[in-house]
Amino acid sequence: MSEPFVTHAGILSFAEEQVNLSSHDKRRYREQVNSLREKLAQHIASNPGFGLVKMLHAGSVAKGTALRNINDLDAAVYVKKDQTPTDEREIVPWVGERLREVYPQKDASDFDTSSPHSVKIHFRGSGLDVDIVPVLYEGDEHDRGYLIDKYTGERLLTSIPLHLQFIRKRKEANPRHFAQVVRLVKWWAKQRKDENSAFKCKSFLLELLVAHLADSGVKLEDYPQALEKFFSYIVKTGLEKRVAFGDYYPASTLPNPTGDAIEVFDPVNAENNVTNRYSVSDRDALVKAAEEAADAIREAFYATTTKRAVESWQVILGPSFRSRHL
Ligand SMILES: Nc1ncnc2c1ncn2[C@@H]1O[C@H](COP(=O)(O)OP(=O)(O)OP(=O)(O)O)[C@@H](O)[C@H]1O
Ligand SMILES: [Mg+2]
Repeated sequence: MSEPFVTHAGILSFAEEQVNLSSHDKRRYREQVNSLREKLAQHIASNPGFGLVKMLHAGSVAKGTALRNINDLDAAVYVKKDQTPTDEREIVPWVGERLREVYPQKDASDFDTSSPHSVKIHFRGSGLDVDIVPVLYEGDEHDRGYLIDKYTGERLLTSIPLHLQFIRKRKEANPRHFAQVVRLVKWWAKQRKDENSAFKCKSFLLELLVAHLADSGVKLEDYPQALEKFFSYIVKTGLEKRVAFGDYYPASTLPNPTGDAIEVFDPVNAENNVTNRYSVSDRDALVKAAEEAADAIREAFYATTTKRAVESWQVILGPSFRSRHL
């Protein structure tokens, strides 16, 4: 059979042009978070007893899995558990006040504490927003602490540095390709969310699914094939198969079936099902979208004209995928 019209090279060139964060922006974003970290570290050093301990860069820019159109950078601020207000609802405003002390010259309107779970700081110079999630912390050596989930407000015992290490290991096993396949499936999910704001598909979930496939021996270096494998996995399992990792705890510590519609466990905490907020209908919508994507990849593979092949890939990657990427 002759070579399909859309090959690995075509998907890669689209990713480089449309999906990936440019290295210039990556540098700029990392510098923004680093300068915030350093400023906080200086403040802590000269103000003993200040309730904030340190800040870590979290999220996709730290992991190298960010998309070009990312709008918020993520950071976690470690706070001493015994110094924070006992009323949960006061923690975010309290962290907001502490951060204002670090930046006394900044306008009050640059600090947004209206979300119950994170403080957002706007930087006028760079135009960037940093979303800062508090972690309640008691000095654990791996920086384990209670992250307050920014969407649900739930307390999750986890470790951001160990998450970064987990992803780093997968990137080392599949240099370039692990992060690129993650960014491509995040891009796919973004198209689905743009069409339907109720579509639920968290970035962390996608990363863990790609990690699971890579750990099971799926090859990632050919992107059409890797994407086909990814979507077929979702269709075949219906996302009803538990996913967990042996990096930081043995499988024996996982709980009995939780009854949650999807079970994908935090690699750091066996009790934290990252997808515990997904309903059966959220899961069904994900599986249906994956089915459409897997079908489109197969159609593209057998297409007899470039036009048809590009149209099929547009089902997955959206209308900005064009024949000029081939
Ligand atoms: N349910 C969860 N349990 C534990 N940690 C979580 C959970 N959700 C997110 N995290 C932590 O927050 C980090 C950010 O994950 P998230 O899915 O919010 O977005 P992201 O990787 O920054 O991607 P995006 O580019 O969409 O912002 C994860 O790497 C992980 O450390
Ligand atoms: Mg993020």
